[in-house]
Amino acid sequence: MSDKLQRTLIILKPDAIHRGIVGEIIDRFEQKGIKIVGMKMAKLSDLLLDKHYAQHKGKHFFEPTKKYMQMLPVVLVVLEGLEVVRVVRTMCGPTDGRNAPPGTIRGDYSGAISRNIIHASEDEKAAYREIKLYFKTTEIFGYDKPDAHFYYDVERGE
Ligand code: CMP
Repeated sequence: MSDKLQRTLIILKPDAIHRGIVGEIIDRFEQKGIKIVGMKMAKLSDLLLDKHYAQHKGKHFFEPTKKYMQMLPVVLVVLEGLEVVRVVRTMCGPTDGRNAPPGTIRGDYSGAISRNIIHASEDEKAAYREIKLYFKTTEIFGYDKPDAHFYYDVERGE
């Protein structure tokens, strides 16, 4: 297995669910050749959100963000691929949708930092922590895709 093979967590936020664009967004990752290895819907509790947003505790947007994240259930997805943490962050674009370039998910769908459609783990350490927060090991599935060599040079891990 290549050391560039990583897993990351995305959360499709309540605005994505409400606007009916969950499929469109997940499709972008599938088209890129990124593998879905875990997926579920959940209503996030106060406790989970306190842990998830621990680094933002005390900031002015902490409570409003928690409230918004509880407006509807969210869709949690674990993605796998080469350098997928960075690749997925790039595909999402900057946090503030108004400043996100077209072609990125936030650039195409979000017009406000407080309604930015998707969360993606910041780095490998955060990805590890966040996946563990939301998924049991039995909810993540390792499997081979027969067409993987059309997306990556599988032998060389590139
Ligand atoms: P995300 O990067 O997924 O995690 C922190 C979230 O807080 C961020 O997305 C936004 O949804 C939300 N948020 C709301 N206001 C702000 C702000 N002013 N700065 C940063 N994040 C904000």
